[in-house]
Amino acid sequence: MAEFKDISPDAPFAVKAMNWVDNRFPATKLFKEHMSEYYAPKNFNFWYIFGSLAMLVLVIQIVTGIFLTMHYKPDAALAFGSVEYIMRDVPWGWLIRYMHSTGASAFFIVVYLHMYRGLLYGSYRKPRELIWIFGCAIFLALMAEAFMGYLLPWGQMSYWGAQVIVNLFSAIPFIGPDLSLLLRGDYVVGDATLNRFFSFHVIAVPLVLLGLVVAHIIALHEVGSNNPDGVEIKGPNAPRDANGHPLDGIPFHPYYTVHDIFGVSLFLMVFSAIIFFAPELGGYFLEPNNFIPANPLQTPLHIAPVWYFTPFYSMLRAITSEMVYALIACVLAGAVTGVVKAKVANLFKAVIVGAAVVLIAAMLMIDAKFWGVMVMGGAVIILFFLPWLDRSEVKSIRYRPGWNKVLYGIFVINFLVLGYLGMEPPSTIGGRVSQAGTLFYFGFFLLMPWWSRLGTFKPVPSRVTFSAH
Ligand code: HEM
Repeated sequence: MAEFKDISPDAPFAVKAMNWVDNRFPATKLFKEHMSEYYAPKNFNFWYIFGSLAMLVLVIQIVTGIFLTMHYKPDAALAFGSVEYIMRDVPWGWLIRYMHSTGASAFFIVVYLHMYRGLLYGSYRKPRELIWIFGCAIFLALMAEAFMGYLLPWGQMSYWGAQVIVNLFSAIPFIGPDLSLLLRGDYVVGDATLNRFFSFHVIAVPLVLLGLVVAHIIALHEVGSNNPDGVEIKGPNAPRDANGHPLDGIPFHPYYTVHDIFGVSLFLMVFSAIIFFAPELGGYFLEPNNFIPANPLQTPLHIAPVWYFTPFYSMLRAITSEMVYALIACVLAGAVTGVVKAKVANLFKAVIVGAAVVLIAAMLMIDAKFWGVMVMGGAVIILFFLPWLDRSEVKSIRYRPGWNKVLYGIFVINFLVLGYLGMEPPSTIGGRVSQAGTLFYFGFFLLMPWWSRLGTFKPVPSRVTFSAH
């Protein structure tokens, strides 16, 4: 137990009160450690605002969610009506609901930008692998949270979207049909599904999300933030002042708290503009079909998930039985390269050949739908491995060969095109483009150990580059 610290009886009341707390709970110590004496690199740019914004949106979602739950009815017969009631009769209910629905899309925009920043500056590299891994787990939890939340208004899109996605699980050999039954709690999406999705959306997943965000920040504060130069400001050779504080760092509070308040203000302006002037955002944030109550007897002509899922949905649709042959060719090419090029023991080469044979046999035997599900899931899972896929000698894009910028640009365009195609009804040309896009997406990551080492790297400075503005 830490020793009790005495304080002069003449000290102001606030100081005495704080001392009383500090003797029982390390409030000042935590504040110092994580805010006023937490040194962050001084060269952060606008990309560094999205972590704080993600925290803000998380809080907005939790608070508005609590108020929505006060009036929402998780019952297949009442759910749609209760949302309409919130929109029309509950005082300020429309605002709370629009904040929550816009918040869902805002969350993904902010998190996608946050992840892309990580990609640009190599923030997932040693020693930040766990920050990244917690981040990927957050992303998975966020997807689950959004998917289950979308069922709750019990509109046509909620219903049929859930039907399509839960049915996908039945494509998994052996356990698939039982698994999808377990997820639905019934043979079709119904009241049981709504109830379990409600309990997951309202309590289970948010708890996991909060826990992961805490772990994410603890890991971040353990190793310190990266920065646009990818220079370690707290490394063994990094310059420090007489007190041991990094010369390239500034205390998070007040410098970055003020900086973040500015970013938050800009964000809130855009966020409010959408809520007040275009809450459905032309059908992208709230789809027109979801203003029609769920009807199990009438399938909508075109079922598509909300925009933030569509890049992955495109990849799912891209895997036709024909595309499985293209995937087999990729597996073959990978195995041959592994055997010819890899400098590993013969036993390991035999393992590569064996694994490729088993995989190809499975690809020929199991339906393409299953491989679609695998590709869709794999597109997210592959992100977890990024710290080990990137073998470049520098972290930040700033010091990588110039063509890397073009490649990262194409990656974004490809992701957006996949997203667009996922919203559109299936078409021949769209299908071909999504197949090419899917191959590019996976090629980008799987071939990273090779291409990330190519080219001439620029010398990384020993100090961060910073000019006062
Ligand atoms: C609820 C979602 C999330 C919250 C609240 C959150 C919060 C934060 C905060 C506050 C920071 C420090 C400020 C900053 O660097 O922007 C940060 C850093 C970071 N986050 Fe997240 N994050 C979330 C999701 C993710 C996801 C999905 C990933 C990646 C898959 C990720 C990867 C990272 C990385 C690598 C850093 C360190 C960046 C650096 O030092 O350059 N985060 N996060």
